Amino acid sequence: MSYLVISTSLREGSRSKIMAKVLAESVKDSEFFDLQNNPLPMCDGDKCYDLPEVIDFRKKVKNAKGIIMAIPIYNFNVSSGAKNVIELGGKMLYDKVFGFICAAGGKSSYMSVMSFANSLMIDYRCIIIPKFVYALKNDFDGNKITSPEIKQRISELGKDLIRISEALS
Ligand SMILES: Cc1cc2nc3c(=O)[nH]c(=O)nc-3n(C[C@H](O)[C@H](O)[C@H](O)COP(=O)(O)O)c2cc1C
Repeated sequence: MSYLVISTSLREGSRSKIMAKVLAESVKDSEFFDLQNNPLPMCDGDKCYDLPEVIDFRKKVKNAKGIIMAIPIYNFNVSSGAKNVIELGGKMLYDKVFGFICAAGGKSSYMSVMSFANSLMIDYRCIIIPKFVYALKNDFDGNKITSPEIKQRISELGKDLIRISEALS
């Protein structure tokens, strides 16, 4: 496994998850890791790191060349589940290539992922793919992506993930 696609929304019918699945299907050698089927404990900064599911998750992060996180935007930031992934991943995150797929309720929150990206860049020396996917409800019809622009963005993000990760490896 070279790439990890982490879906962090716990909502049934999640739009970030729908997009993450499309991207994972287009990236050979990727694993789709869904927090809905693989619940992780909230980080306590201590004993959580000894739990088997956290040890296993950290191994997946360590082995990945590049990681895409599918994120619901909550309160002008990433959801707590997404932030928890970083707290559990810790040192395993160093030097990874990261990309983002965001689902939001409104277009004004498009910068919400930036404090999360800053922490990955400055704290963990990650390389952030400087073009992410940001979609709203009206880009979908039920569980189908209807927006050609969003489909195009997902395809580009998958290609950039491979291109940038390969170039740096
Ligand atoms: C607690 C909460 C806070 C939210 N805050 C924002 C916000 O600040 N900006 C925004 O555009 N949408 C916000 N939303 C809407 C979600 O981003 C939207 O429902 C999105 O589709 C969630 O992702 P998901 O479909 O993958 O679960 C919020 C939703 C919830 C439940």
